[in-house]
Amino acid sequence: MLTSFSWSLYLGLAFEVSCAPSVTQALRRQSANDLTSYTIPPLESSGSNNSVRASAIQIKADTFLYGPSIAGNTSFWPAGSLGNSTINADFADLSTDTLIDEPKLEADVAVVTSAIQAAGGIKQLSDYNILYKDQWKNSLPGGVDVGVLTNYTNDLVFSMERLSVNPYSVKRLNPSDTLAFQVDNGIATNITGTTLSGLLKSGSLFYVDHRDQASLESTGRFAAYCDAYFYIHPRNGDFLPLAIRTNTGSNLIYTPADTANDWLLAKMMFNLNDFWHSQWYHLAATHNVLEIIWEAAYRSLSDEHPVMALLKRCVVSPRLFGYRISAISVLINKGGFIDQSFAFTGAAAGVSTSNLYQSGEAGNFQSNYFYRNLQSRGLYNSTFGPKIKCFPFLEDASVIHTSIQSVMTTFVDSYYTSPSSFEQDQELQAWIAEAKPAEIMDFPTSVDRQTLIDILTQFAYVGSAAHQTLNTNDLAEMKGTLPFHPASLYQAPPEKKGVTDLIPFLPPANASIAQLVLLGLFGRPTFVNSNVSLSQMFNDATMLGKMNTKVADASATFEKEMLAQSKVVAARSFDQDGLSQGMPFIWRTLDPQRAPYYLTV
Ligand SMILES: *[C@@H]1O[C@H](CO)[C@@H](O)[C@H](O)[C@H]1NC(C)=O
Ligand SMILES: *[C@@H]1O[C@H](CO)[C@@H](O)[C@H](O)[C@H]1NC(C)=O
Ligand SMILES: *[C@@H]1O[C@H](CO)[C@@H](O)[C@H](O)[C@H]1NC(C)=O
Ligand SMILES: *[C@@H]1O[C@H](CO)[C@@H](O)[C@H](O)[C@H]1NC(C)=O
Ligand SMILES: *[C@@H]1O[C@H](CO)[C@@H](O)[C@H](O)[C@H]1NC(C)=O
Ligand SMILES: *[C@@H]1O[C@H](CO)[C@@H](O)[C@H](O)[C@H]1NC(C)=O
Ligand SMILES: *[C@@H]1O[C@H](CO)[C@@H](O)[C@H](O)[C@H]1NC(C)=O
Ligand SMILES: *[C@@H]1O[C@H](CO)[C@@H](O)[C@H](O)[C@H]1NC(C)=O
Ligand SMILES: [Fe+2]
Repeated sequence: MLTSFSWSLYLGLAFEVSCAPSVTQALRRQSANDLTSYTIPPLESSGSNNSVRASAIQIKADTFLYGPSIAGNTSFWPAGSLGNSTINADFADLSTDTLIDEPKLEADVAVVTSAIQAAGGIKQLSDYNILYKDQWKNSLPGGVDVGVLTNYTNDLVFSMERLSVNPYSVKRLNPSDTLAFQVDNGIATNITGTTLSGLLKSGSLFYVDHRDQASLESTGRFAAYCDAYFYIHPRNGDFLPLAIRTNTGSNLIYTPADTANDWLLAKMMFNLNDFWHSQWYHLAATHNVLEIIWEAAYRSLSDEHPVMALLKRCVVSPRLFGYRISAISVLINKGGFIDQSFAFTGAAAGVSTSNLYQSGEAGNFQSNYFYRNLQSRGLYNSTFGPKIKCFPFLEDASVIHTSIQSVMTTFVDSYYTSPSSFEQDQELQAWIAEAKPAEIMDFPTSVDRQTLIDILTQFAYVGSAAHQTLNTNDLAEMKGTLPFHPASLYQAPPEKKGVTDLIPFLPPANASIAQLVLLGLFGRPTFVNSNVSLSQMFNDATMLGKMNTKVADASATFEKEMLAQSKVVAARSFDQDGLSQGMPFIWRTLDPQRAPYYLTV
């Protein structure tokens, strides 16, 4: 019944590119390990001679080059001898990380396979619970988010996912916007108390558009290409779904007024599209953006520079350049995991990643600063319409963002003691200028105190909270849970309403297990409460030992704040309405003790 999966490839892969040993040795000689402290380059006019430091940077700039993108056409991929050896070292390091979890996952698969076989497969929706009941003991010891398996038919699960597990696809419509499609006035009034245009006029209407997925290469399995309206209820302020359009076949428009089966299927079809969006957005907006900023920094800053040390810590170097190699080796390659589970191919994943990156939606740096990104989509400090009553992503991520910003402020103020010190730091200036040849999209073109605080804050925030929201443990815990989030449909979207049985549309038992295995590969249960938990972001004794004491103090404060926030998240339960943060499930993803502090697979 079950085919075996090729995740062991993940480990066995020998990815080797050549590297001239002399360069590595030259750099090792000047390694920052031997330093007593990181320094911004001293002024030559003060009698300092920076030539050794400058020649070390030159070696990096000469041998760590920008090459063509891989895994989609996004940011440059390292080339040159040092670029190559960095990729090798990072991939080797990343491979040791997966060793921890894989055998455990295999053991879990054996257990779930026999459970589902004993039950005779999946014959009705409730049978999907077999996939979870006492399952995934090793790979998902904390289980799925409480509530998702019991409450997924509740509309608030569906709508509030737009404000938590993938907060990057929804936007508030401006009263002057043109509506993509109409919803019958009688139906809209029955559901919301007012018409679609009434909602639009009051700034209460929200929209998600996944129609672009219609052009993606299909695996032969099925999908709709949904766009959808959400709204803030005029009376109770709840954020709820109003309508989903399929944009395929007879282009049905579903609403909560449809039969329970029809509406549930519509929400599942939307989830398929939104899951796809979230994953390639994750690759483009977090990995690809941080990679190129890091590349530009590495070519411009000495390894003795405190900014370089901080960037290295935030992305865990060596490791940063391992992920895209994993992606092309086992994930988006022909016959890889995406081909096996999704409605669209691995090649299509490359297309979506490229589009999201190049359009700027994911690829732009400054316009995606935490608050600016939310503000540009009318989700935060909107100048029109009602405030969003419950916004779990904003609630949790803002605490982390504020604490990161506070560390970065101390860091910048302790190293740059006067406004002129930014100009005098030739390496810092070189990094900003390097954004041009690196083709970093929307990077600052000059740097002062606030600019540097903002760059560093966003860099650390994207690698931690933004990444964890979209990926890692959340996939298996919530974003990809079945049956509500199928990676593929197994029958074409219906041509007319009145579907009585959803099972033919949903992943059968073996495909369901394959989907959950794939999600499990991204989980990192061993990182929970560990030295790579988000709370430990700056807690690196070696790094802090070479920085000034103000930074060490700020790191200690950060840890204290994050441990306090972890308690807040861990203590969450349902209120008397069965809600947590306004949602019928308990969202744990941004617990700073559960999320790692850096990008993972
Ligand atoms: C700086 O040091 C290098 C190597 O130690 C030396 O070759 C160079 O002449 C020095 N430059 C100045 C301006 O002192
Ligand atoms: C990648 O995108 C850039 C920018 O749009 C374009 O100039 C280049 O030709 C593309 N490369 C490939 C291989 O498609
Ligand atoms: C780096 O690796 C690429 C791909 O394997 C190879 O084509 C290239 O020659 C290597 N460059 C150097 C300088 O080693
Ligand atoms: C609105 O709801 C009422 C009461 O349930 C129902 O009779 C009517 O058909 C609905 N109108 C539309 C346009 O669906
Ligand atoms: C959002 O609005 C509040 C209240 O007007 C204001 O204090 C705050 O600075 C704004 N935040 C941002 C990031 O613009
Ligand atoms: C599941 O089983 C079907 C029928 O035996 C087979 O065609 C399909 O490839 C299997 N899918 C997976 C993901 O193993
Ligand atoms: C975390 O601890 C492990 C084992 O104790 C160690 O190998 C690893 O380097 C540490 N990682 C970090 C980022 O401190
Ligand atoms: C969600 O599920 C939990 C049980 O898992 C239940 O206690 C809670 O009341 C449910 N919430 C709603 C809104 O149904
Ligand atoms: Fe990732």
